[in-house]
Amino acid sequence: MMPRVLEPELMSDPEQALVYAQADFEKENQGFVDRFRENYPNFSEGHVLDLGCGPGDIPVRFARAFPACRITGVDASEPMIGLAGAAAKQAGLADRITYRCERFQAVSLVEPVDAAVSNSLLHHVPNPLQFWYRLRQLVKPDSPVLVMDLLRPDSPEEAQAIVNRYAAKEPEILRRDFYNSLLAAFTEDEVAAQLAEMNLSRLIVNVPDDRHWVVSGIIH
Ligand SMILES: C[S@@+](CC[C@H](N)C(=O)[O-])C[C@H]1O[C@@H](n2cnc3c(N)ncnc32)[C@H](O)[C@@H]1O
Repeated sequence: MMPRVLEPELMSDPEQALVYAQADFEKENQGFVDRFRENYPNFSEGHVLDLGCGPGDIPVRFARAFPACRITGVDASEPMIGLAGAAAKQAGLADRITYRCERFQAVSLVEPVDAAVSNSLLHHVPNPLQFWYRLRQLVKPDSPVLVMDLLRPDSPEEAQAIVNRYAAKEPEILRRDFYNSLLAAFTEDEVAAQLAEMNLSRLIVNVPDDRHWVVSGIIH
């Protein structure tokens, strides 16, 4: 099995953040919000946390899909939070979407949230147990969570093949980040072991396609 190769935790380079924000993640990001709705048909209102929100496309889509929710996005990259704030304003949703430029490890909330989502953050994090630990602390008991990320392939060649298959025409900086992210990602077994170690046994890990894993369930 190919070992994990860490990439920088934060996406703090302004050009890197802009290229990421301009990339077309509509299918993935809308799919993520649709998956949340399908998994939790009874959820409709409350305070939702997006950890590692990046340029804020998912918070905007989430706010549109759930008009009775307010969303707090957390990202420690200043350029990402700048782009996210501008996107919320442009969408006319700045009254329901708030951003905090902080590491999720350091975030403290007045009270825990009613749901949490996180897409494509975990592969940036050196110690993934910190993420699952904070997730449980930040979310009210019996609340839904949806966490999705890349799946580490078996070899660098397979990682390159995935980049070529899904990002052939993307700018080089995005292709480079995608490749590095695949190498920094976790396998399904590693994620399952993390959940078991953190006693998050009501969360389930699934592999919906050739390059993603998804964790869903009710946090307790
Ligand atoms: C690949 S982007 C994903 C952005 C967004 N969730 C999406 O799906 O488009 C990962 C983001 O996580 C942020 N990040 C990484 N480590 C973090 C940490 N410890 N605390 C907060 N944000 C972090 C990075 O700065 C980056 O913006």
